[in-house]
Amino acid sequence: MLPNGKFEDGVIKSLIADDFEVLFRTSLSECIRRRVSEFALMYREVTDEEYESCLLTILRAIHDPAIPKAGAHRQDNWEKGWLENFHAWEATAGGKGAKINAILPRYFGKYGFLRINRTLIRPLSDNFEYFSLCLITDWLFDVYMRKAGSIYEFGCGTGYHLVRLRNYNPTASLFGLDWAPASQKIISSLASQGYVTNMQGLRFDYFNPDQNIRLAADSIVYTVASLEQLGRDFNPFLAYLLRNRPSLCVHVEPIAELLDKSNILDFLSIEYFQKRNYLTGFLDRLHALKAEGKIDIVLEQRSFIGSLLIDGYSIVVWKPV
Ligand SMILES: C[S@@+](CC[C@H](N)C(=O)[O-])C[C@H]1O[C@@H](n2cnc3c(N)ncnc32)[C@H](O)[C@@H]1O
Repeated sequence: MLPNGKFEDGVIKSLIADDFEVLFRTSLSECIRRRVSEFALMYREVTDEEYESCLLTILRAIHDPAIPKAGAHRQDNWEKGWLENFHAWEATAGGKGAKINAILPRYFGKYGFLRINRTLIRPLSDNFEYFSLCLITDWLFDVYMRKAGSIYEFGCGTGYHLVRLRNYNPTASLFGLDWAPASQKIISSLASQGYVTNMQGLRFDYFNPDQNIRLAADSIVYTVASLEQLGRDFNPFLAYLLRNRPSLCVHVEPIAELLDKSNILDFLSIEYFQKRNYLTGFLDRLHALKAEGKIDIVLEQRSFIGSLLIDGYSIVVWKPV
């Protein structure tokens, strides 16, 4: 990590491509290395006082009775949130950048501190959290999705990842699926106003998969922080995938099995997963399916990137055999 100068009481650092190669345990293509430079991710280390106050914020969140569990009862909340983005999108004039900013979820950058490599940092550049998630997803788009004929993002929200995915695959048919109708409204507007070609939104509920939605041959499925919302109730969707046999499934999700319970930040992350009823047992179930000879697991690793409350962007890639 490169020290670039002084700021407040800490040294300003920037995350460079080599850092992401360490975090992701791989070498990155020139294209992703360029993305890292474009994002110019500046931060500083936290002070001891900040570290302590961050731990207190996390513990308070874990014990806060007002923070709800995820689950089937939350559909209206998601609809309300994405409708706000839809109205912001409609109200925003200007170029592509401003329009796309209008559909970014409001939950990025909420706490002013983030996790990188199991330490807490104070981001100094704009959109740090959003850009670091972009680097995880864009790396996966670059490696796995360039040649697919059809790509489906389940639980896609406003569809902003699909818009970037177009940079890596100019021709695939893109599908954004979500249980919130506001998601389909935004995607249909993105497509009709020419912000992305050959993309459509479909209504889909993980708890009750619509069997009439059949995945095309040569398709790739991915999810980003949306299986998260299912707790232990992921089996209907897993059965749907096994029936439809996509060529690859790529997930960026909270996976407790990949964290280290002997590390305090990881430990608190797992506690927060439990508090929110986030995805539980998914990787173990994939291991069982592998043992039964039904799937292959291509990659399972944490990203070492997270928000203040959780290390929630672990990566699992698998395929039906
Ligand atoms: C944390 S957001 C993630 C959105 C987007 N993938 C991203 O990376 O920002 C969770 C998404 O999952 C969707 N979701 C939650 N439960 C769902 C369900 N049962 N079926 C389909 N989508 C669901 C929500 O509507 C929301 O869009």
